[in-house]
Amino acid sequence: MNYRMPKSFQWGVASAAYQVEGGWNAGGRGPSIWDTWCHKNNRVSGDNACFSYQRWREDVQLLKNLGVQAYRFSISWPRVLPTGRAPINQRGLDYYDRLVDALLQNKIKPFVTLYHWDLPQALEDTGGWQSRETAYAYADYARLMVERLGDRVTNWMTFNEIPTGIGKGYELGIYAPALKVKPKALALIYHHVLVAQGLGIRAMRAARPGQIIGIAHDPFTPVPVIEDAAHIKACAVAYERLNAYLMDPMFRGTYPKFLPVFPEVKTGDMKLVSEPLDFVGLNIYSGLYTEPGKDGYQLVKFPTHYPTSEGLDWLRFIPQALYWATRHVDERYGVKAIYITENGWSSDRQRDVADWCNDVDRILYLRCYLRELHHAISEGIPVRGYFLWSLLDNFEWASGYSKGLGLYYVNHKTGERRPKRSAGWYKTVVHANTVV
Ligand code: NOJ
Repeated sequence: MNYRMPKSFQWGVASAAYQVEGGWNAGGRGPSIWDTWCHKNNRVSGDNACFSYQRWREDVQLLKNLGVQAYRFSISWPRVLPTGRAPINQRGLDYYDRLVDALLQNKIKPFVTLYHWDLPQALEDTGGWQSRETAYAYADYARLMVERLGDRVTNWMTFNEIPTGIGKGYELGIYAPALKVKPKALALIYHHVLVAQGLGIRAMRAARPGQIIGIAHDPFTPVPVIEDAAHIKACAVAYERLNAYLMDPMFRGTYPKFLPVFPEVKTGDMKLVSEPLDFVGLNIYSGLYTEPGKDGYQLVKFPTHYPTSEGLDWLRFIPQALYWATRHVDERYGVKAIYITENGWSSDRQRDVADWCNDVDRILYLRCYLRELHHAISEGIPVRGYFLWSLLDNFEWASGYSKGLGLYYVNHKTGERRPKRSAGWYKTVVHANTVV
């Protein structure tokens, strides 16, 4: 079987500002909720992360060496707007200006995420996502970025992983800003984020028509444990039940009737929150095995020794998840274009004596997942590109630096980068445009 991808397929890698930049108080940057979280916990800290604020030129060379056509990175909102609102901090913007220019000089297309969980602390202090005002601030920020960078950047993602960012940050209290709000307040938070997205898209399009705007979303991915008609049907029910609370308003402009609580919605909101996206990005790592059950579906329990990524118990080896993730979103919402905006695996960070990280488990994972993506494309599902998470071993949020999701090993004391075996493998894949 040949696993060649279409000619126009875009290969990329992904990262996020707070996880790689460091320079937390350099160049006039303001604090974000993650600075506050880290400094308070005094356990893990993204103060330096991967030193990309200083070493971005080297990162661009690594990308060039891999041969990727695209790089997904995020803008740190408090770096460009230290209080969350105008005026722009020119020194902060300069950083992204230079990065974008260097990428383009090396024929690498920037895909920019506007919000990867690092809300300016000043906005959290006035209510954060519990306040509708934050949605207006977001739209201004999005507009400013398109005004300043949109002459060179055309691909944007409004938000990264709303369910994880909000769920862990505002419901479970394990990510910044570490709140545990009640269900009604939580529904309103999600609604405000959707309002922000709608306002943002409108502002971006008004500022500069022709921008290509999507989202990096992380829906649950039910996978039929047996691929027969009954299981596939159960899977579609599971997809709706687990994801429609956010995806129905976003793609259909309605909240599903089965929700236990609804947010308060203002006139015009449902049109606003369903402002059309040009593409949907999917961050897919794992899946949920599903079978028919009393609610139309039920989840299948995993045995204790099911293959799971080193140290991240949610990251299970389920290659079919990449196929089903694209098929579900295509079938239920009929989106125009799909990108895999993240996919990856954490491998042991130990390097062996030869100074070479033998992350063959990552190679196995990526190969199997990408072959399932090829399967989706061969069925006509409009997948346009793939971003591997991540370029570097970076700051994995509450897990700090213990995880190794990068193609490059990073020494977090010095910032030194070294390729792992998977970097060589990915380079071969990109070069051949084929999953080898
Ligand atoms: C998704 C998040 O977007 C990213 O920030 C995180 O590092 C990866 N998952 C791996 O957990």
